[in-house]
This record gives sequence, C-alpha cells and structure tokens, in this order.
Amino acid sequence: MNHPTLQLTQQHYISEGRDRVCYLHPEDENRCIKITKTGCDRILKRINREIRYFEKYQRKGRYYPFLSAYYGPVETSMGEGHMFEIVRSYDGSVARTLQSYWCEKRELLDEAGEAELRDEISTKVMEIYQLCCANKIPLSDLNGENLLMVYENETDYSLKLIDGFGNAHFIKVMDWFQKTSSYKLTKQFNKMFDCLIGRPLVAR
Ligand SMILES: Nc1ncnc2c1ncn2[C@@H]1O[C@H](COP(=O)(O)OP(=O)(O)O)[C@@H](O)[C@H]1O
Ligand SMILES: [Mg+2]
Repeated sequence: MNHPTLQLTQQHYISEGRDRVCYLHPEDENRCIKITKTGCDRILKRINREIRYFEKYQRKGRYYPFLSAYYGPVETSMGEGHMFEIVRSYDGSVARTLQSYWCEKRELLDEAGEAELRDEISTKVMEIYQLCCANKIPLSDLNGENLLMVYENETDYSLKLIDGFGNAHFIKVMDWFQKTSSYKLTKQFNKMFDCLIGRPLVAR
C-alpha cells in the first residue's frame, strides 16, 4: 500500500545532532521523525547499523523501555526519514538531554552543590549502565546528547538512550559474550561520564 508523503515544516522541528535533524511527526504526537543531514557513507552506515539492531530486537520480541522504540522508515517532504518514539516526560514536554541539564545546572551551583549534582547524575547513569550490561546492549556512540531525561514526576527522572546503538566492530564478540560486553560497556560509560562530568563512573 502506498502511504502519502508526510509534510514536514520548520514548525515540526525539535532539535538536531551532528548527523540528523529530529522533527515531531505531523500526525502522531508520540513519534518523531529523524532526517539524515547528508548522504555521507559513514553516517548512512551508522544509521543503518542502528536500524538493523532495532529490527533484530523486534524479531526476537525484545522491548527495552530504556531505548526509544523504532517504528520504521517513512517518506516525508524532506526526504526519507525514520520514525522513533518521541521521549516525553510525565507533563508531556519533550525530554531534554543530560548534557544540557548538567551544563545549565552546574552554572548556578557552588562547589558543594556541583558535587551533589555529580552524585545525582552518577546514580542515574549507573542505572542505565546496568540495564545495558544486563541486556548486552552494544553501543557505538555514547555521549550526553544521546541520553534524554524522562521525568516521572516533578523530581524523579530516569535516562533513555535515543541514539548510538549497535556494534561498529566487524567481529561482534561483545554481542555473544557477557564478560566482553560488560568490559566494553564499562569502558564506554566511563569515557562518556569522564567527558561529561570529569570523573569515571565505575571504579577501575
Ligand atoms: N526520540 C527522541 N525524543 C525526543 N527528542 C529526540 C529524540 N531523538 C532525538 N531527539 C533530539 O534530537 C537531537 C538529535 O538526535 P540524534 O538522534 O541524537 O541525532 P544524531 O544522529 O545527529 O546524533 C537529540 O540530541 C535530542 O535533543
Ligand atoms: Mg546523537
């Protein structure tokens, strides 16, 4: 069946990263559509890899609430896009990135407040790190812009990964062995946390 092309305008714009622009789905407030900025090979490879992982999880009937769900490709007035679950908090607002939260909030804090904020973020990142380890989720691009904060109420939040799944390495050892997988994930989370906050997440 042929689906009509979805009309996207700047009114639907949510945000963008290095490679993709994220728009609100014009007919479904629970979905967003990501459009690739350029057709460069490296980017397309990365995006296709991520989609293959989503399809693999779907085939195996695996649903991970800490990853934004994937709903397939779609034709839009801005070219081919990919539909994902839009990440929202309890009040309906689109979730913000952990990176922007940390950068904005720390500006307003003294040293003690900043230390508390580091601990708070560390607890939240630790939760998603443990979920990734337990479910052997391979990651390739972990950073504070790919982690969104979902508020369950005014004060409590959890993190959701919106981008950067999949194993970039040809030999997908970490998909098979729990130990290798945890080792790699620990390295990736430590590196990301160190870049964001200035200290490793898990003691080495
Ligand atoms: N599922 C989503 N729900 C809400 N906002 C999102 C979602 N996916 C992406 N965004 C927003 O769009 C930005 C860019 O999306 P992302 O998929 O990370 O693009 P890129 O591939 O360029 O890194 C994110 O940093 C975030 O602000
Ligand atoms: Mg990103």
